[in-house]
Amino acid sequence: MEAVKKQSNGWISWILVLGMAALVLMAAVITVRSKSHHSAAAPVPGPPGAIEKKYGDALNLALQFFDVQKSGKLVGNKLSWRSDSALDDGSERNLDLSKGMYDAGDHVKFGLPLAFTATVLSWSILEYGDQMKAAMNLKPALDSLKWITDYLINAHPSDNVLYIQVGDPDIDHKCWERPETMAEERPLTQVNSSSPGTEVAAETAAALASASLVFKTINSTYSDLLLQHSQQLFSFADIYRGSYSISIPQVQLYYNSTGYTDELLWAAAWLYHATGDQSYLSYVTEKNGKAFAEWGIPSWFSWDNKLAGAQVLLSRLYFFGSKKTSNAENVALQRYAITAKAVVCGLLPDSPTATTSRTDGGLIWISQWNSLQHPVASAFLALLFSDYMLSSQTPTLSCNGNSYTPADLRKFAISQADYVLGENPMEMSYLVGYGKKYPLYVHHRGASIPADANTGCDGFKWLNSTAPNPNVAIGALVGGPFLNETYIDSRNNSMQGEPTTYNSAVIVGLLSGLVTTSSVVQSFS
Ligand SMILES: *[C@@H]1O[C@H](CO)[C@@H](O)[C@H](O)[C@H]1NC(C)=O
Ligand SMILES: *[C@@H]1O[C@H](CO)[C@@H](O)[C@H](O)[C@H]1NC(C)=O
Ligand SMILES: *[C@@H]1O[C@H](CO)[C@@H](O)[C@H](O)[C@H]1NC(C)=O
Ligand SMILES: *[C@@H]1O[C@H](CO)[C@@H](O)[C@H](O)[C@H]1NC(C)=O
Ligand SMILES: *[C@@H]1O[C@H](CO)[C@@H](O)[C@H](O)[C@H]1NC(C)=O
Ligand SMILES: *[C@@H]1O[C@H](CO)[C@@H](O)[C@H](O)[C@H]1NC(C)=O
Repeated sequence: MEAVKKQSNGWISWILVLGMAALVLMAAVITVRSKSHHSAAAPVPGPPGAIEKKYGDALNLALQFFDVQKSGKLVGNKLSWRSDSALDDGSERNLDLSKGMYDAGDHVKFGLPLAFTATVLSWSILEYGDQMKAAMNLKPALDSLKWITDYLINAHPSDNVLYIQVGDPDIDHKCWERPETMAEERPLTQVNSSSPGTEVAAETAAALASASLVFKTINSTYSDLLLQHSQQLFSFADIYRGSYSISIPQVQLYYNSTGYTDELLWAAAWLYHATGDQSYLSYVTEKNGKAFAEWGIPSWFSWDNKLAGAQVLLSRLYFFGSKKTSNAENVALQRYAITAKAVVCGLLPDSPTATTSRTDGGLIWISQWNSLQHPVASAFLALLFSDYMLSSQTPTLSCNGNSYTPADLRKFAISQADYVLGENPMEMSYLVGYGKKYPLYVHHRGASIPADANTGCDGFKWLNSTAPNPNVAIGALVGGPFLNETYIDSRNNSMQGEPTTYNSAVIVGLLSGLVTTSSVVQSFS
């Protein structure tokens, strides 16, 4: 990201909803109670339905952006304009930090959003792996996930040390060059017990726990290794509590964190799924639930705030039941489920608690920078919730007395996906390579410079060039439109035209849930 980019929170827009939240909570308690002891212990896998070509094509493209962003020695690379880069990353500490992915149009590896990318990609594979497989997209998703988790493992060389950044954004941003020809210094940044970084350590723990589930049946040795790092990182995050934005104030200019309590719950929720260890369930349900979960208050899911994600993930346990949970734990899980419902009710356009933060065309719209991150992430959550309802045979969701079916939730998710793919006033697809019209001036160093140019650091003439990018940043999800639904396709417009890896993770999640006409989530814990 190019500047102070990271406005992730649109809390103000939710204030409108807050007044209603208490009512939603009361109404929801009633519906939830009436169906408390669920008989279905796990979702019943069913046929994934027919392939929706449109979403299959879009998913295929979206996954390719991870290949565009890969650092290190490439394996099976199909992009003519990409090759090996950053092979020495980490070498000053005898670490191999060459893999992982560049964050956006620049070449920094930022740990917090990168780990979030891996967690969301794992979640997508866990829920919708069968659909991805049916659309012949599972293998690239697994390869890209492992490309990140291999890096994250190496970034955690001892219990209480985690490297959270490779490259200095100030140095990196003074250059406009291809990753293959980078020559500037790429310093490492770590968190440790004297300079803790709870959010980044906990998000990394969430990534590795969720990935350990993904790789469980593929390679149990690798899965165990992921889980071992995850558990150590969670202890490090929880014992040495402190925000990395305070320990290392420089990070505030890029991925400033607004707090770490959401990441602690999110990581513990993933660790409970990965291990079945009761202590992680108690962590989210008992003391920390009360202190951190913000029950009843909807929030926006993003690289900075995982609460809505944790609420939906924990709803899974509520929907599909668990023999192992105590009464107190069930009550807490129910509160998570009720809060997840409040999130979904806020998204449905004709719900009494609908957020007013949308464009005239119906796109959820929260922030000017990278505006598509919120609608796409929200649609992914709504789709998951819809599929949890379907898979648990929960017929309706009540929003302040109005009743909605899983099909209504899916319709919302589709509306956001279709907007992104071109059903918008600009008639522009914001997924690069999809449809007849998509951004040609994506703010991306590698895509903007011909593959045979060796610019050194000073390739700014390619930033200024009025010709379209010589290389297509295939599958990139750009930042997206303004509130008035316009988009300026100009390479210097990083606010709207810069893609990110975490945008790719959420669009991959959304599209993999839409790739077949009906989707039933899978059992994974
Ligand atoms: C701990 O991390 C801080 C912040 O990155 C760093 O300044 C310090 O040198 C690290 N401590 C050790 C012992 O490396
Ligand atoms: C399984 O994972 C381990 C640990 O990463 C690795 O050494 C081994 O080669 C993997 N096995 C296969 C069959 O890929
Ligand atoms: C980073 O976030 C904290 C907590 O929300 C806030 O106090 C601080 O001003 C932010 N820093 C910047 C540079 O925006
Ligand atoms: C690129 O454009 C900027 C801003 O218009 C200008 O300051 C700079 O000199 C230009 N650089 C090159 C190499 O054309
Ligand atoms: C749309 O909004 C942007 C950002 O606020 C503004 O710069 C632009 O002028 C607006 N365009 C129109 C056509 O109103
Ligand atoms: C950004 O690019 C557009 C053309 O695409 C140009 O009109 C504008 O002056 C540029 N802005 C800066 C700050 O370079």
